[in-house]
Amino acid sequence: MDTGNIDVEQLEKKITKKTKAILPVHIYGHPCDMDPIIKIAKKHRLYVVEDAAEAHGALYKGRIIGSLSDVACFSFYANKIITTGEGGMALTSNRKIAERLRLLKNLSFVKRRFIHHEIGFNYRMTNIHAAIGLAQLENIDKLINLRRKHAHFYNKLLKGLDWINIPVEKSYAKNVYWMYGITLKGKMRNKKKSLVNYLKGKGIETRDFFTGMHKQPVFRKMGLFHGERYPNTDILAATGLYLPSGSGLKEKEIRTVAQAIKSF
Ligand SMILES: Cc1ncc(COP(=O)(O)O)c(C=O)c1O
Repeated sequence: MDTGNIDVEQLEKKITKKTKAILPVHIYGHPCDMDPIIKIAKKHRLYVVEDAAEAHGALYKGRIIGSLSDVACFSFYANKIITTGEGGMALTSNRKIAERLRLLKNLSFVKRRFIHHEIGFNYRMTNIHAAIGLAQLENIDKLINLRRKHAHFYNKLLKGLDWINIPVEKSYAKNVYWMYGITLKGKMRNKKKSLVNYLKGKGIETRDFFTGMHKQPVFRKMGLFHGERYPNTDILAATGLYLPSGSGLKEKEIRTVAQAIKSF
């Protein structure tokens, strides 16, 4: 609950005959607790596909996120830790999966171009975007260190406030703090809208935490999640927001945001 990541205690209860894979999302840059997830996956013969869109460079027990599962997916969208503007990357150590991904990416040409063996896609990354990505990669350590430094500074300024929860970093994790998220607690739980508007009035933009998949209209229409409850996800969505978190933040700006929260 405190990381916002998948609850490994609940996970096994959700597995049915139809389940093919477990898809842990390393939310806001904090790794999921992968060992129990991998153990459950092995027991039930399931794939593990990590959503590492927000977790470039994060570590789980010293191991790099992206190397722990069957496939790990990263985003290089403009607001990510490193970016190519749009695009992403899937990592796998499984040769068969790699071959299949390459096929699907490139219109399912097998031996000859323009002969399609199944429905494929054009998900190719252009050389220009790849060049931007490689240049970004040279700076990744610096960018992650900046995000961690900013998060530690926010922590220092906000940790005395008893009406908010600040992000955690579990003993097994290196959090890359893609976003610095807080949740409101106690009597202030219902005050998110007022806080958001108050900060907006001071020129400080925030974003709501994600809405749970069980609330997404597309899945409701597909008949999924009916009668199921995900109270932790709902609480996080209702009480959570993230503060300005980009690597370009200045200490002065972090101080201004923290001061505004305190004055609220
Ligand atoms: C957790 C998570 N998964 C997936 C995505 C989608 O990534 P993309 O926009 O590159 O498709 C994002 C992007 O914000 C994300 O944060």
